[in-house]
Amino acid sequence: MENTGKKLQVGVIGNGSISGLHLEAYRQNPDAELAAVCDLNEERAKAAAEKYGAKRVYTNYRDLLADPEIEAVSICTWNDSHAEISIAALEAGKHVLCEKPMCKTVEDAERVQDAVRRSGKLLQVGFVRRYAGSVDVLKRFIDAGELGEIYYAKATCLRRLGNPGGWFSDKSRSGGGPLIDLGVHIIDICWYLMGRPKVKSISGNTYRKLGNRAHIQNLSFYKAADYDASRNDVEDAANAVIRFENGASLIVDVSFTLHAVKDEISVKLYGDKGGAEVEPALVVMSEKHNTIVNVTPQIDHTTFDANEAFGREITHFVNSCLGRCETLSPVEDGLEVTRMLSAIYESAATGKEIQF
Ligand SMILES: NC(=O)c1ccc[n+]([C@@H]2O[C@H](COP(=O)([O-])OP(=O)(O)OC[C@H]3O[C@@H](n4cnc5c(N)ncnc54)[C@H](O)[C@@H]3O)[C@@H](O)[C@H]2O)c1
Repeated sequence: MENTGKKLQVGVIGNGSISGLHLEAYRQNPDAELAAVCDLNEERAKAAAEKYGAKRVYTNYRDLLADPEIEAVSICTWNDSHAEISIAALEAGKHVLCEKPMCKTVEDAERVQDAVRRSGKLLQVGFVRRYAGSVDVLKRFIDAGELGEIYYAKATCLRRLGNPGGWFSDKSRSGGGPLIDLGVHIIDICWYLMGRPKVKSISGNTYRKLGNRAHIQNLSFYKAADYDASRNDVEDAANAVIRFENGASLIVDVSFTLHAVKDEISVKLYGDKGGAEVEPALVVMSEKHNTIVNVTPQIDHTTFDANEAFGREITHFVNSCLGRCETLSPVEDGLEVTRMLSAIYESAATGKEIQF
Protein backbone atom coordinates (compact mmCIF):
# COMPACT_ATOMS: atom_id res chain seq x y z
CA MET A 1 0.00 0.00 0.00
CA GLU A 2 1.36 3.46 -0.83
CA ASN A 3 2.31 5.88 1.88
CA THR A 4 -0.49 8.30 2.77
CA GLY A 5 1.10 11.36 4.30
CA LYS A 6 3.19 9.65 6.96
CA LYS A 7 6.96 9.55 6.72
CA LEU A 8 8.56 6.95 4.45
CA GLN A 9 10.10 4.26 6.70
CA VAL A 10 13.61 3.52 5.49
CA GLY A 11 16.27 0.89 6.22
CA VAL A 12 19.94 1.22 5.29
CA ILE A 13 21.74 -2.07 4.61
CA GLY A 14 25.55 -1.86 4.81
CA ASN A 15 26.83 0.78 7.22
CA GLY A 16 30.39 1.38 5.95
CA SER A 17 31.92 4.47 4.34
CA ILE A 18 29.33 5.55 1.77
CA SER A 19 26.33 4.79 3.96
CA GLY A 20 27.07 7.93 5.99
CA LEU A 21 25.95 10.08 3.06
CA HIS A 22 22.71 8.07 2.72
CA LEU A 23 22.04 8.11 6.46
CA GLU A 24 22.68 11.84 6.80
CA ALA A 25 20.44 12.62 3.82
CA TYR A 26 17.58 10.50 5.23
CA ARG A 27 18.06 12.10 8.64
CA GLN A 28 17.65 15.53 7.09
CA ASN A 29 14.71 14.58 4.84
CA PRO A 30 11.39 15.76 6.32
CA ASP A 31 9.49 12.99 4.50
CA ALA A 32 11.65 10.06 5.64
CA GLU A 33 12.34 8.30 8.91
CA LEU A 34 15.25 5.96 9.60
CA ALA A 35 13.51 2.83 10.83
CA ALA A 36 16.54 0.51 10.83
CA VAL A 37 20.14 -0.09 9.87
CA CYS A 38 21.89 -3.39 9.15
CA ASP A 39 25.51 -4.48 8.87
CA LEU A 40 27.33 -7.80 9.19
CA ASN A 41 29.50 -5.88 11.67
CA GLU A 42 27.17 -5.30 14.62
CA GLU A 43 29.32 -2.61 16.25
CA ARG A 44 29.29 -0.64 13.00
CA ALA A 45 25.52 -0.95 12.69
CA LYS A 46 25.01 0.12 16.31
CA ALA A 47 27.29 3.12 15.87
CA ALA A 48 25.35 4.16 12.73
CA ALA A 49 22.00 3.76 14.55
CA GLU A 50 23.24 5.93 17.39
CA LYS A 51 24.76 8.61 15.18
CA TYR A 52 21.82 8.97 12.79
CA GLY A 53 18.94 8.02 15.09
CA ALA A 54 17.80 4.73 13.50
CA LYS A 55 15.22 2.91 15.61
CA ARG A 56 16.32 -0.71 15.10
CA VAL A 57 19.57 -2.58 14.39
CA TYR A 58 19.95 -5.80 12.38
CA THR A 59 22.95 -7.91 11.39
CA ASN A 60 21.07 -10.05 8.85
CA TYR A 61 19.47 -8.16 5.97
CA ARG A 62 16.69 -10.77 5.75
CA ASP A 63 15.52 -9.77 9.23
CA LEU A 64 15.42 -6.13 8.18
CA LEU A 65 13.42 -7.05 5.07
CA ALA A 66 10.97 -9.02 7.22
CA ASP A 67 10.30 -5.84 9.22
CA PRO A 68 6.79 -4.92 8.03
CA GLU A 69 7.16 -1.25 8.89
CA ILE A 70 10.00 -0.71 6.41
CA GLU A 71 8.91 0.57 3.00
CA ALA A 72 12.22 1.36 1.29
CA VAL A 73 15.88 0.42 1.61
CA SER A 74 19.26 1.77 0.60
CA ILE A 75 21.74 -0.98 -0.28
CA CYS A 76 25.29 0.12 0.57
CA THR A 77 27.00 -3.29 0.77
CA TRP A 78 29.84 -4.81 -1.26
CA ASN A 79 29.01 -5.17 -4.95
CA ASP A 80 28.63 -8.97 -4.81
CA SER A 81 25.47 -8.73 -2.69
CA HIS A 82 23.69 -5.95 -4.62
CA ALA A 83 21.67 -8.31 -6.85
CA GLU A 84 20.76 -10.76 -4.09
CA ILE A 85 19.66 -8.07 -1.61
CA SER A 86 17.86 -5.99 -4.28
CA ILE A 87 15.82 -9.00 -5.43
CA ALA A 88 15.00 -10.06 -1.86
CA ALA A 89 13.97 -6.49 -0.98
CA LEU A 90 11.73 -6.13 -4.05
CA GLU A 91 10.15 -9.52 -3.31
CA ALA A 92 9.53 -8.33 0.25
CA GLY A 93 7.63 -5.35 -1.21
CA LYS A 94 10.27 -2.68 -0.51
CA HIS A 95 11.43 0.08 -2.84
CA VAL A 96 15.19 -0.04 -3.43
CA LEU A 97 17.99 2.48 -3.83
CA CYS A 98 20.95 0.31 -4.83
CA GLU A 99 24.46 1.72 -4.79
CA LYS A 100 26.48 1.52 -7.98
CA PRO A 101 27.47 -0.71 -9.68
CA MET A 102 23.98 -2.22 -9.74
CA CYS A 103 25.45 -5.70 -10.33
CA LYS A 104 28.66 -7.52 -11.15
CA THR A 105 27.24 -9.35 -14.19
CA VAL A 106 24.66 -8.85 -16.94
CA GLU A 107 22.81 -12.01 -15.81
CA ASP A 108 22.40 -10.57 -12.32
CA ALA A 109 21.26 -7.23 -13.74
CA GLU A 110 18.62 -9.00 -15.85
CA ARG A 111 17.38 -10.87 -12.76
CA VAL A 112 17.09 -7.58 -10.87
CA GLN A 113 15.16 -6.03 -13.76
CA ASP A 114 12.79 -9.03 -13.77
CA ALA A 115 12.25 -8.61 -10.02
CA VAL A 116 11.43 -4.92 -10.47
CA ARG A 117 8.87 -5.75 -13.16
CA ARG A 118 7.32 -8.63 -11.15
CA SER A 119 7.11 -6.67 -7.90
CA GLY A 120 5.89 -3.36 -9.33
CA LYS A 121 8.26 -1.67 -6.85
CA LEU A 122 10.77 1.03 -7.68
CA LEU A 123 14.51 0.49 -8.01
CA GLN A 124 16.74 3.52 -8.27
CA VAL A 125 20.36 2.86 -9.27
CA GLY A 126 22.85 4.95 -7.29
CA PHE A 127 24.13 6.89 -10.30
CA VAL A 128 24.63 9.83 -7.96
CA ARG A 129 26.26 12.08 -10.56
CA ARG A 130 22.95 12.29 -12.43
CA TYR A 131 21.48 14.04 -9.38
CA ALA A 132 24.20 16.69 -8.95
CA GLY A 133 22.88 20.26 -9.27
CA SER A 134 25.43 21.05 -11.98
CA VAL A 135 24.23 18.08 -14.07
CA ASP A 136 20.61 19.13 -13.58
CA VAL A 137 21.50 22.57 -14.97
CA LEU A 138 23.46 21.13 -17.90
CA LYS A 139 20.65 18.68 -18.71
CA ARG A 140 18.30 21.61 -19.09
CA PHE A 141 20.76 23.31 -21.51
CA ILE A 142 21.08 20.03 -23.48
CA ASP A 143 17.31 19.38 -23.55
CA ALA A 144 16.83 22.91 -24.92
CA GLY A 145 19.18 22.01 -27.80
CA GLU A 146 22.12 24.24 -26.81
CA LEU A 147 24.70 21.54 -27.63
CA GLY A 148 22.88 20.28 -30.74
CA GLU A 149 23.78 16.70 -31.61
CA ILE A 150 26.35 15.37 -29.13
CA TYR A 151 28.68 13.22 -31.23
CA TYR A 152 31.71 12.83 -28.98
CA ALA A 153 32.31 12.50 -25.25
CA LYS A 154 35.48 11.92 -23.30
CA ALA A 155 35.78 11.03 -19.64
CA THR A 156 38.76 10.43 -17.40
CA CYS A 157 38.99 9.42 -13.75
CA LEU A 158 42.59 8.72 -12.82
CA ARG A 159 43.93 8.07 -9.35
CA ARG A 160 47.71 7.92 -9.20
CA LEU A 161 47.52 6.14 -5.80
CA GLY A 162 44.05 5.00 -4.76
CA ASN A 163 43.42 1.28 -4.65
CA PRO A 164 41.05 1.21 -1.63
CA GLY A 165 42.02 -2.40 -0.74
CA GLY A 166 39.70 -4.73 1.20
CA TRP A 167 36.69 -5.89 -0.80
CA PHE A 168 37.33 -3.29 -3.56
CA SER A 169 40.45 -5.18 -4.67
CA ASP A 170 38.94 -8.65 -4.17
CA LYS A 171 37.37 -9.40 -7.55
CA SER A 172 34.97 -11.99 -6.13
CA ARG A 173 33.31 -9.27 -4.02
CA SER A 174 33.80 -6.21 -6.26
CA GLY A 175 33.53 -7.64 -9.78
CA GLY A 176 36.60 -5.65 -10.84
CA GLY A 177 38.76 -2.63 -10.16
CA PRO A 178 38.62 1.02 -11.23
CA LEU A 179 36.45 0.27 -14.26
CA ILE A 180 33.49 -1.08 -12.28
CA ASP A 181 34.13 1.26 -9.34
CA LEU A 182 34.96 4.62 -10.98
CA GLY A 183 34.32 3.99 -14.68
CA VAL A 184 30.69 3.17 -13.92
CA HIS A 185 30.10 6.80 -12.85
CA ILE A 186 31.77 8.57 -15.74
CA ILE A 187 30.49 6.20 -18.43
CA ASP A 188 26.98 6.59 -17.04
CA ILE A 189 27.05 10.37 -16.82
CA CYS A 190 28.29 10.73 -20.41
CA TRP A 191 25.77 8.20 -21.73
CA TYR A 192 22.91 9.88 -19.80
CA LEU A 193 23.79 13.36 -21.05
CA MET A 194 24.26 12.07 -24.62
CA GLY A 195 20.60 10.98 -24.49
CA ARG A 196 21.24 7.27 -23.74
CA PRO A 197 22.06 6.23 -27.33
CA LYS A 198 22.06 2.53 -28.23
CA VAL A 199 25.51 0.93 -28.01
CA LYS A 200 26.88 -0.51 -31.26
CA SER A 201 30.30 -1.84 -30.27
CA ILE A 202 32.90 -1.63 -27.53
CA SER A 203 36.65 -2.05 -27.47
CA GLY A 204 38.55 -1.98 -24.17
CA ASN A 205 41.88 -2.64 -22.47
CA THR A 206 42.68 -3.40 -18.85
CA TYR A 207 46.11 -3.39 -17.21
CA ARG A 208 47.61 -4.98 -14.11
CA LYS A 209 51.09 -3.51 -14.04
CA LEU A 210 51.64 -1.64 -10.78
CA GLY A 211 49.78 -3.69 -8.14
CA ASN A 212 48.17 -1.80 -5.27
CA ARG A 213 51.42 0.02 -4.32
CA ALA A 214 50.72 -0.46 -0.61
CA HIS A 215 54.45 0.20 -0.06
CA ILE A 216 54.14 3.90 -0.97
CA GLN A 217 54.75 6.16 2.01
CA ASN A 218 53.86 9.78 2.85
CA LEU A 219 50.80 9.97 0.59
CA SER A 220 47.34 9.17 1.95
CA PHE A 221 44.47 7.71 -0.06
CA TYR A 222 40.86 6.47 0.22
CA LYS A 223 40.56 3.09 1.95
CA ALA A 224 37.69 0.60 2.43
CA ALA A 225 36.19 0.42 5.94
CA ASP A 226 38.02 -2.92 6.39
CA TYR A 227 41.31 -2.05 4.68
CA ASP A 228 43.43 -5.03 3.73
CA ALA A 229 46.22 -4.70 1.19
CA SER A 230 47.03 -8.41 1.08
CA ARG A 231 44.51 -9.28 -1.61
CA ASN A 232 44.50 -7.59 -4.99
CA ASP A 233 43.32 -9.35 -8.13
CA VAL A 234 41.68 -6.43 -9.95
CA GLU A 235 42.97 -4.32 -12.85
CA ASP A 236 44.80 -1.13 -11.90
CA ALA A 237 43.83 0.78 -15.06
CA ALA A 238 41.39 0.49 -17.97
CA ASN A 239 40.37 2.36 -21.10
CA ALA A 240 37.66 1.93 -23.72
CA VAL A 241 36.07 3.24 -26.88
CA ILE A 242 32.28 2.93 -27.01
CA ARG A 243 30.59 3.39 -30.40
CA PHE A 244 26.88 4.17 -30.57
CA GLU A 245 24.38 3.36 -33.32
CA ASN A 246 23.80 7.08 -33.97
CA GLY A 247 27.49 7.49 -34.86
CA ALA A 248 28.51 9.10 -31.57
CA SER A 249 31.48 7.81 -29.57
CA LEU A 250 32.68 7.87 -25.98
CA ILE A 251 36.30 7.47 -24.91
CA VAL A 252 37.04 6.72 -21.28
CA ASP A 253 40.01 5.93 -19.06
CA VAL A 254 40.26 5.15 -15.35
CA SER A 255 42.82 3.99 -12.80
CA PHE A 256 43.30 2.99 -9.18
CA THR A 257 46.98 3.65 -9.70
CA LEU A 258 49.09 5.01 -12.54
CA HIS A 259 52.39 6.87 -12.90
CA ALA A 260 50.48 10.11 -13.43
CA VAL A 261 51.58 13.51 -12.19
CA LYS A 262 48.34 13.97 -10.26
CA ASP A 263 44.79 12.66 -9.88
CA GLU A 264 42.51 13.77 -12.67
CA ILE A 265 38.79 13.86 -13.32
CA SER A 266 37.24 15.24 -16.46
CA VAL A 267 33.93 14.71 -18.23
CA LYS A 268 33.54 16.48 -21.59
CA LEU A 269 30.81 16.48 -24.22
CA TYR A 270 31.04 17.85 -27.73
CA GLY A 271 28.05 18.66 -29.94
CA ASP A 272 27.53 20.35 -33.31
CA LYS A 273 26.08 23.51 -31.70
CA GLY A 274 28.08 23.62 -28.48
CA GLY A 275 30.14 21.71 -25.98
CA ALA A 276 30.24 21.27 -22.22
CA GLU A 277 32.56 20.23 -19.44
CA VAL A 278 30.86 18.67 -16.41
CA GLU A 279 34.16 18.10 -14.61
CA PRO A 280 36.50 19.50 -13.44
CA ALA A 281 33.86 22.28 -13.41
CA LEU A 282 30.69 23.09 -15.32
CA VAL A 283 31.21 25.24 -18.40
CA VAL A 284 29.25 25.42 -21.64
CA MET A 285 30.95 26.37 -24.90
CA SER A 286 29.21 27.86 -27.93
CA GLU A 287 29.30 30.69 -30.47
CA LYS A 288 27.64 34.10 -30.33
CA HIS A 289 28.00 36.85 -32.95
CA ASN A 290 30.86 35.02 -34.69
CA THR A 291 32.66 34.69 -31.38
CA ILE A 292 33.43 31.64 -29.30
CA VAL A 293 32.00 32.03 -25.80
CA ASN A 294 32.56 29.90 -22.72
CA VAL A 295 29.56 30.23 -20.41
CA THR A 296 30.05 29.57 -16.71
CA PRO A 297 26.69 29.01 -15.00
CA GLN A 298 26.61 30.80 -11.64
CA ILE A 299 25.47 28.02 -9.30
CA ASP A 300 26.41 26.88 -5.79
CA HIS A 301 28.36 23.80 -6.88
CA THR A 302 29.99 23.91 -10.32
CA THR A 303 31.83 20.68 -9.55
CA PHE A 304 30.66 17.41 -7.99
CA ASP A 305 29.86 17.96 -4.31
CA ALA A 306 29.10 14.65 -2.57
CA ASN A 307 26.89 16.10 0.17
CA GLU A 308 24.80 18.06 -2.31
CA ALA A 309 24.51 15.22 -4.83
CA PHE A 310 23.67 12.48 -2.30
CA GLY A 311 21.16 14.83 -0.65
CA ARG A 312 19.48 15.42 -4.00
CA GLU A 313 19.65 11.73 -4.94
CA ILE A 314 17.96 10.66 -1.72
CA THR A 315 15.36 13.42 -1.90
CA HIS A 316 14.56 12.21 -5.42
CA PHE A 317 14.35 8.58 -4.22
CA VAL A 318 12.03 9.47 -1.33
CA ASN A 319 9.84 11.55 -3.64
CA SER A 320 9.74 8.71 -6.18
CA CYS A 321 8.73 6.22 -3.46
CA LEU A 322 5.97 8.62 -2.40
CA GLY A 323 4.71 8.72 -6.01
CA ARG A 324 5.67 12.36 -6.59
CA CYS A 325 8.10 11.80 -9.49
CA GLU A 326 9.86 9.19 -11.60
CA THR A 327 13.39 8.10 -10.74
CA LEU A 328 16.12 9.54 -12.97
CA SER A 329 18.12 6.29 -12.83
CA PRO A 330 15.84 3.28 -13.41
CA VAL A 331 16.82 -0.39 -13.45
CA GLU A 332 16.87 -0.45 -17.28
CA ASP A 333 19.77 2.03 -17.21
CA GLY A 334 21.54 -0.05 -14.56
CA LEU A 335 21.29 -3.05 -16.88
CA GLU A 336 22.59 -1.14 -19.94
CA VAL A 337 25.57 0.27 -18.03
CA THR A 338 26.32 -3.25 -16.69
CA ARG A 339 26.32 -4.45 -20.32
CA MET A 340 28.87 -1.75 -21.24
CA LEU A 341 31.16 -2.56 -18.30
CA SER A 342 30.99 -6.30 -18.99
CA ALA A 343 31.76 -5.74 -22.67
CA ILE A 344 34.84 -3.68 -21.81
CA TYR A 345 36.13 -6.50 -19.58
CA GLU A 346 35.30 -9.07 -22.27
CA SER A 347 37.00 -7.04 -24.99
CA ALA A 348 40.10 -6.64 -22.81
CA ALA A 349 40.19 -10.38 -22.07
CA THR A 350 39.70 -11.49 -25.68
CA GLY A 351 41.54 -8.68 -27.45
CA LYS A 352 38.49 -8.21 -29.70
CA GLU A 353 35.86 -5.55 -30.27
CA ILE A 354 32.49 -6.60 -28.84
CA GLN A 355 29.43 -6.08 -31.08
CA PHE A 356 26.11 -5.35 -29.40
N1 LIG B 1 28.05 6.49 -5.23
C1 LIG B 1 29.33 6.62 -4.89
O1 LIG B 1 29.99 7.61 -5.23
C2 LIG B 1 29.97 5.56 -4.06
C3 LIG B 1 31.14 5.83 -3.34
C4 LIG B 1 31.71 4.80 -2.59
C5 LIG B 1 31.13 3.54 -2.57
N2 LIG B 1 29.99 3.30 -3.31
C6 LIG B 1 29.39 1.95 -3.32
O2 LIG B 1 28.80 1.70 -2.05
C7 LIG B 1 28.97 0.33 -1.71
C8 LIG B 1 29.69 0.25 -0.37
O3 LIG B 1 30.96 0.88 -0.46
P1 LIG B 1 31.72 1.43 0.84
O4 LIG B 1 32.84 2.28 0.35
O5 LIG B 1 30.75 2.00 1.80
O6 LIG B 1 32.33 0.05 1.41
P2 LIG B 1 32.67 -0.29 2.92
O7 LIG B 1 33.53 -1.49 2.90
O8 LIG B 1 33.18 0.94 3.60
O9 LIG B 1 31.25 -0.64 3.58
C9 LIG B 1 30.48 -1.75 3.18
C10 LIG B 1 29.73 -2.28 4.40
O10 LIG B 1 28.80 -3.27 3.97
C11 LIG B 1 28.77 -4.29 4.94
N3 LIG B 1 28.24 -5.50 4.30
C12 LIG B 1 28.78 -6.20 3.28
N4 LIG B 1 27.96 -7.21 2.91
C13 LIG B 1 26.87 -7.13 3.73
C14 LIG B 1 25.65 -7.89 3.84
N5 LIG B 1 25.42 -8.94 3.04
N6 LIG B 1 24.76 -7.52 4.79
C15 LIG B 1 25.00 -6.46 5.60
N7 LIG B 1 26.13 -5.70 5.54
C16 LIG B 1 27.04 -6.03 4.60
C17 LIG B 1 30.23 -4.41 5.42
O11 LIG B 1 30.32 -5.04 6.67
C18 LIG B 1 30.65 -2.92 5.44
O12 LIG B 1 30.41 -2.34 6.70
C19 LIG B 1 29.74 -0.30 -2.87
O13 LIG B 1 28.85 -0.93 -3.75
C20 LIG B 1 30.40 0.88 -3.56
O14 LIG B 1 30.62 0.66 -4.95
C21 LIG B 1 29.41 4.29 -4.02
